[in-house]
Amino acid sequence: MTRAAPVRSGIIGTGFMGTVHTRAVRAAGGQVVAYAGRDLDRTRKVADAQGVELVLRPEELISHPDVDVVHICTPNAQHVALATAAIRAGKHVVCEKPLALTLAEADALDRLAVESGVVNVVPFVYRYYPAVREARARISQAGERIWLAHGHYLQDWLADRETYNWRIDEGESRAFADIGVHWCDLFEFISGHRISRLSARFSQLHDRRTGPSGDVAVDTEDAVTMLFETDLGATGSVVISQASRGRKNRLWMELDGEAMSYSFDQETPDRLEIGSTEGTLVVPKGAETTRDSAAVAPYLLVPAGHPQGYQDAFTLLMAEVIEAVRGRAVAGMPTFSDGVRAAAITAAVVASSESETWSPVASTELQRSA
Ligand SMILES: NC(=O)c1ccc[n+]([C@@H]2O[C@H](COP(=O)([O-])OP(=O)(O)OC[C@H]3O[C@@H](n4cnc5c(N)ncnc54)[C@H](O)[C@@H]3O)[C@@H](O)[C@H]2O)c1
Repeated sequence: MTRAAPVRSGIIGTGFMGTVHTRAVRAAGGQVVAYAGRDLDRTRKVADAQGVELVLRPEELISHPDVDVVHICTPNAQHVALATAAIRAGKHVVCEKPLALTLAEADALDRLAVESGVVNVVPFVYRYYPAVREARARISQAGERIWLAHGHYLQDWLADRETYNWRIDEGESRAFADIGVHWCDLFEFISGHRISRLSARFSQLHDRRTGPSGDVAVDTEDAVTMLFETDLGATGSVVISQASRGRKNRLWMELDGEAMSYSFDQETPDRLEIGSTEGTLVVPKGAETTRDSAAVAPYLLVPAGHPQGYQDAFTLLMAEVIEAVRGRAVAGMPTFSDGVRAAAITAAVVASSESETWSPVASTELQRSA
């Protein structure tokens, strides 16, 4: 039997995500053949540390014949131009979230990717925890009617006025576009519901921060409080914050069904809590505990009791990217259409916070598949 040639990745942007993607591609059996960045000397240093040979300019990486998949791990404002160029060059694309700064741009990019027939992925990576798959499978198998959803996604890295980052002055939303979209994607993925209308309120801890050029005004939100309704009749609420002291990456959600409740915490991702009136059952991830082996086993990298974390979730995502590049359909892999969905929810959040009224979420994905 001949072995399939390795799928070769080129990564643009070599900060936090660039190195997470690098480790994940390699662990999934792919190769990282090139890096590109804004500053070639800095990119060369990261390339040396990671053992990546080629350091190119972004446009050179995109057109390089040895690159099969272009990973876009740059700040958000560069996503559309780089992804468009990569698709036009016939490359498969993994583009970090948010796919674009506006819904119209995200939608155009998705259409281009679909028309071009390239594999297109947005790393909504929290889908790749076994406990998430377990919750999704149990809710679906039991036909559980989810009537209420609640949760939060809290971080504290922007709690200090002196902290500055490129995210602070990009786009009309910061906290929601950056992390709120992960919560909504995970909620919709687990429950099968779609958020149809929402009421959102932005809050700012700091309206001025110490930026690279001194004291600057800040327009983007530090937090969002949101109420929502879904197409399947549930209601919910979520708080998103990047300035809640003591919370590092606490994505927590609970889905209340008629018979059971299901809760998941990204910071203890190996366990699913299932509540009933008799008490709460903690289900550890594992082959012995799953109710749906077909749905969950592919996401069990190590046996029960052996922790599986964020980087592992990325490995599982990249393994699916490689499968898709090899022409095998992968259900549940987050694509550009999920990035469009996130952009539609973000647009509704911005509209609602500005108008101080409820806003509908544009149903681009539903119209297209109708
Ligand atoms: N899926 C997830 O879980 C997740 C988590 C964190 C970040 N992200 C996303 O990943 C992307 C990168 O975030 P990060 O935290 O790695 O940021 P980062 O600041 O750590 O890294 C960004 C990198 O891009 C480089 N860069 C800047 N401008 C560039 C340009 N014009 N061309 C090429 N390179 C350029 C920077 O030099 C830096 O190396 C963002 O879109 C962010 O939203 C996703």
